[in-house]
Amino acid sequence: MNAVNRVLFVASEAYPLIKTGGLADVAGTLPEVLRQGGLDVRLLLPAYADLLQRLESPPEVLAELAFDGHAVRILQCVLPGTSLRTWLVAHPLFSERAGNPYHDDGGNPWSDNADRFMLLSRAAAHISTCDTALQWRPDILHCNDWHTGPAIALAHLAQKRPRTVFTIHNLAHMGIFDRGVFDRLGLPGQFWQEQGLEYYGQCSFIKGGLVFADEITTVSPTYAREICESPGGMGLEGLLSQRRDHLLGILNGIDSRTWDPARDPHLVQTYDAGSLQHKSLNKSALQQQLGLQVREDCPLLGFVGRLVEQKGLELILPVIEQLLDSPAQVVILGTGEARYEEALQALAARRPDVLSVVLAYDETLAHRIEAAADIFLMPSLFEPCGLNQLYSLRYGTLPVVRAVGGLADTVVDATDQALDAGTATGFVFALPQPDDLLHATGRAIAAWHDQPVWRAMQLTAMAQDFSWQRSAERYLELYRSTTE
Ligand code: ADP
Ligand code: GLC
Repeated sequence: MNAVNRVLFVASEAYPLIKTGGLADVAGTLPEVLRQGGLDVRLLLPAYADLLQRLESPPEVLAELAFDGHAVRILQCVLPGTSLRTWLVAHPLFSERAGNPYHDDGGNPWSDNADRFMLLSRAAAHISTCDTALQWRPDILHCNDWHTGPAIALAHLAQKRPRTVFTIHNLAHMGIFDRGVFDRLGLPGQFWQEQGLEYYGQCSFIKGGLVFADEITTVSPTYAREICESPGGMGLEGLLSQRRDHLLGILNGIDSRTWDPARDPHLVQTYDAGSLQHKSLNKSALQQQLGLQVREDCPLLGFVGRLVEQKGLELILPVIEQLLDSPAQVVILGTGEARYEEALQALAARRPDVLSVVLAYDETLAHRIEAAADIFLMPSLFEPCGLNQLYSLRYGTLPVVRAVGGLADTVVDATDQALDAGTATGFVFALPQPDDLLHATGRAIAAWHDQPVWRAMQLTAMAQDFSWQRSAERYLELYRSTTE
């Protein structure tokens, strides 16, 4: 066991300051839970323009750092709703642009993303390996996803370095740039090799984390296995299986301050397991809000998420089309690829009374859908962990999921055996085919019509413990057992 006191947790987004997906939920919760457990944790984020706007008061300027020909200021704030000290890397590359952290309004990646996230990575490595004006060096450098991979690689070049942990939230995003970018960034030539950042003739930021980290984690045990094989490993399965002894799957938890139906301020009516009858008030309020028929006698199916291939849109579209002719209603909230947005809009135009499509990023609506829907659809092609199915379970909104990644690890299919044992929490199918999703959805709708069975499943789902405390314990054990 090694002493661990200081942890630098580095990410490209963290709720509630800046969020595009589940990474923000994790980075906005796990560091604070670790802090509450007694560690001295700092969260390091880029000082994006949108993030700075969201701060309740102006941040304190903590230090000016210079490294590798760059100069940044480190600003300090407290992550809203927590007591977590958050450090922001301030530089024009981050602050002089409004909008999404990764891409423009048309979905095209910012052309200088390599420079932006290399700067974040360099700042993290510098703080972790040098005596700086911050007078604080971590025992553990914990980086997340491709934006921070080079930080691990650079830290490993230093004479004195912290132990390093790299968490994969989504292997599909590798941070790939061409050789010219690698040269322009002035990265050490020794990184241009297979056991470095080189990836099939290009440069991949995520490899910095995968090759060099003392320990790699990902966000569910099943995804940890899937990425050691093809196709889950997406060309990195060789490297990941080589590193299998240092690869661990730790399930994400739920931020129970934000996602709790008993005290969720976004809901029209709060409820818990003892007052489940109140859940239906959320359903009628949402039907009204979205212009659907206000009906109790047909199930309401919900989807919230990025409208991208990963989330199973190729399965959802044909299934919704079939559902339009059955007594069911569907509500979709998401933003993403134009082809999916357009197809959904076209379907909604045909039957606005039973299908509502909201193409927006809307937190209140996301909470309301979790509370109002009876059934939640999450037929992902792959899913490292997935948070929406966890929120659904917590809200008694039974999920229909594909048996992949974290979905397989968190939802128990309503087989006869599981129903008898009282362990069933949802509906699981195996193959990525519309008919299989349709069949699983049909099973869910049939179960919904059997109220005693449905109620029992809801209570089992709501009683599941997906608290962060348990997962944070696993990270703490990992930090302590890690050696250089
Ligand atoms: P991923 O990180 O792959 O997008 P997760 O299920 O882990 O998937 O997390 C997605 C998070 O983003 C959830 O908190 C979800 O509620 C939120 N989210 C996704 N799309 C939207 C949206 N359009 N409006 C509001 N919240 C959204
Ligand atoms: C990624 C994954 C998602 C996971 C989230 C947080 O965005 O797609 O499955 O829940 O990261 O770890």
